[in-house]
Amino acid sequence: MDGDEHKNLRALTQSWFMPNSILKLDGRIRKLASEIVEKIRQQEGQRIDFSTDYALHYPLHVIMDILGVPQEDAPRMLMLTQEFFGSEDSDLKRKSPGESDSSGAAMGKAMMAVVEDFKVYFEQLTEDRRKNPRNDIATLLANAQVDGQPIDEVARLGYYFIIATAGHDTTSSSTSVAMWALSRFPELLPRLQADLSLIPQFIDEALRFASPVRHFMRTATADTEIRGRVIRKDDWLMLCYGSANRDEEVFPEPFKFNMDRKPNRHLAFGIGNHVCLGQHLAKMEMRILFEELIPKLRQVEPAGEMDFVASNFVGGPKHLPVRCLMR
Ligand code: HEM
Repeated sequence: MDGDEHKNLRALTQSWFMPNSILKLDGRIRKLASEIVEKIRQQEGQRIDFSTDYALHYPLHVIMDILGVPQEDAPRMLMLTQEFFGSEDSDLKRKSPGESDSSGAAMGKAMMAVVEDFKVYFEQLTEDRRKNPRNDIATLLANAQVDGQPIDEVARLGYYFIIATAGHDTTSSSTSVAMWALSRFPELLPRLQADLSLIPQFIDEALRFASPVRHFMRTATADTEIRGRVIRKDDWLMLCYGSANRDEEVFPEPFKFNMDRKPNRHLAFGIGNHVCLGQHLAKMEMRILFEELIPKLRQVEPAGEMDFVASNFVGGPKHLPVRCLMR
């Protein structure tokens, strides 16, 4: 979607995600973060899977609050999101009874079934919010108008869908990568503890490293040339965010985790008209979690290998086994 159509739809929710608006979520997010720290304390010295036990759930609860989805639906939202983004992952993809087919067609069919489930869920939500309006994004989208006309069903469902899915899986992945870095590079923890104002740059480096959105596609609107490669109008181009974030002309030693990069002009959130709407929220969630966790940690060490969700679209660590000692 481009031009005014995109601009008008984006404008509907943009103010909700601006730095000033999300500030009011600080208390609620900090409470979730401190609950996580307490749970980790209770498991001190034990092997925990930081990804599945914590990182997956934390941003999910935040986005469900903003969207206005009841917290008891969290397991359903999580499963649908994982089935959607994990459609290439044998552990996460939706399995039809008795199905062992892993062809592209079977994968497409499974993904459409997941989309259909989301659709049913969001249609019910729309109906409810039209009858019982509240101060949430579901109510805003249920009643949204552009140029005096209600937005169409496809636009509304697409909107719910991107906020409900991309709004947490990406943040979870980046949070896990930040924790992985703490466990692999022990010199980071004391530096961050001595100066908590370094946390935002630590997070930016984790975002660069994680690049949880693997790719999006663009269609060329005109003939052009990029570094000697001819691009024709209507050609399809793949934007590889992870590759951009390891561009050795921009990032010296790109495969090194280095929170001292200045500037750290990573493209994990994209760039241009479609730049991530939730970037400030995602960074705030990560910052608050590590502001709560870092001062309480004595040590975090690897307790096994981190592995990844099989996905060429959106994904990150599936399991991150670590052991935490607390102060
Ligand atoms: C670490 C977390 C996140 C990362 C790495 C991320 C990354 C991205 C990327 C790469 C894009 C595409 C940009 C482009 O096409 O050029 C995008 C778009 C988008 N993201 Fe995020 N995102 C994150 C979190 C969130 C959150 C928390 C929300 C919550 C609302 C969100 C909502 C959106 C929306 C609505 C778009 C579409 C924007 C548009 O097309 O105008 N994202 N994001």
